[in-house]
Amino acid sequence: MKHANWIAGAQVPPRGGEYFPDANPARPDDVIGEFPRSDAEDVAAAVSAAEEGFAIWRRVPVPARGEILGRAGEILRERKEEIARLLSREMGKTIREARGDVQEAVDTAFYAAGEGRRLFGRTTPSELPNKAAFTTRRPLGVCGLISPWNFPVAIPSWKAFPALLCGNSVVLKPASDAPASAEAFVRILLEAGVEPRALNLVHGGGGQVGRALVAHPRVQAISFTGSTEVGREIAEVAARTLKRVSLELGGKNAVLIAPDADADHALDGVTWGAFGSCGQRCTTTSRLLLPESMHDRFVERLCQRARALVAGDPLDERTDIGPLVNRAQLEQVARYVDIARAEGAAIATGGKPNDALPGFFFHPTVVTGVTPDMRIAREEVFGPVLAVMRYRDLDQALAWVNATEYGLSSSIYTRDVSLAFRAIDEIEAGITYVNGPTIGAECHLPFGGVRQTGNGHREGGWGPYDFYSEIKTVYVDYSGRLQRAQIDNR
Ligand code: UN1
Repeated sequence: MKHANWIAGAQVPPRGGEYFPDANPARPDDVIGEFPRSDAEDVAAAVSAAEEGFAIWRRVPVPARGEILGRAGEILRERKEEIARLLSREMGKTIREARGDVQEAVDTAFYAAGEGRRLFGRTTPSELPNKAAFTTRRPLGVCGLISPWNFPVAIPSWKAFPALLCGNSVVLKPASDAPASAEAFVRILLEAGVEPRALNLVHGGGGQVGRALVAHPRVQAISFTGSTEVGREIAEVAARTLKRVSLELGGKNAVLIAPDADADHALDGVTWGAFGSCGQRCTTTSRLLLPESMHDRFVERLCQRARALVAGDPLDERTDIGPLVNRAQLEQVARYVDIARAEGAAIATGGKPNDALPGFFFHPTVVTGVTPDMRIAREEVFGPVLAVMRYRDLDQALAWVNATEYGLSSSIYTRDVSLAFRAIDEIEAGITYVNGPTIGAECHLPFGGVRQTGNGHREGGWGPYDFYSEIKTVYVDYSGRLQRAQIDNR
């Protein structure tokens, strides 16, 4: 079946008439549908609609916008199972994790609904008598949202809900590996009552649709989640039109196990952090730092755990590990295992595609003998590959945690409260977990990273409401005469 773009509430075919297939990575012959391969003209039409939508939507009182988004949260919750099944089929995460993905969007919707009755400005005294001073928030205009395939409902929700709550209009360009989930999401928001022209969906590739959106002079802000390489390019192109840009990019997240850690507890966390979502999260645990005293036994038990994970159809409740999202991703993961081997690391388990299954499956992989200079210790793999490093002492371990150009998530397992706080202070990352793996962010807390992981913005929590609004400072002089600041009161 051919799907369309959604522009001003209508289904609009791409002007060029081209489509791409959206296939199930667990069974590549199962095609979910054909989606538009749009171009710059389709983007221009969506931006024009969004400009009209902005003029209407910005006038809807903020609490009323919040109520509409709350209704979207209710519909998402009612259809959680149906959407989870669609997204699992489309991008391969297990059905249990797919439900979590939708739940994250439900939570984000309710947070936005609540924000509809806050969206605070500030009031502060004036330095002059009979004069009031306060700030108020204004929306930016048309926002371009470019979302990834790995959280195909949660991440569009992190962007769209705060953008809409603040009164902006939106053009969403979802990843080409997860267009159906984005469509389901957009339909629900429209059904909930979002002004149709304020919410537009344009499918297609980053090189065409994404680039056109970023370059468009009447798009005021871009929010992007994806690779550091593409993020850098977006920042460069967006700078030409002075757009506001929020970037959520790569990670190389480490779990540091201190010698006093509870090994059983840590084993559960590392297995989940490294192999959950088949390692396809920006927050995936991709490095494990073990002390000499625990190394061999922990690695042995971890490999047993990795081998016991059940690979299979992600829609089957018994499946622990689904496929990688596409063939290119499978090839990339295989290439990194080869690189690790060539650099002198050892493959303790896994290390190859799982040919027993029809899709893009890869065995959960543990790589040992990794040192901080190796590419497998520094570069994002985006697959079920964990690089294990053996450390001498905690000074070395903390230095190794920071020996990466990224800084998204991090974790330490320890029972020593002083060490936990030392790690919180010293680890260069946007998120640090104590006695938990590197994944599991909650929607009401800031999410994002330092260094090459982003450009200083955060999703989740209250930060996006700053990103998606402009501050206006207001002075009201009710003295009835000219009062010159800095002069008449000195
Ligand atoms: C991502 O990997 O892009 O903390 C987002 C987590 C999820 C979100 C991850 N709640 O792993």
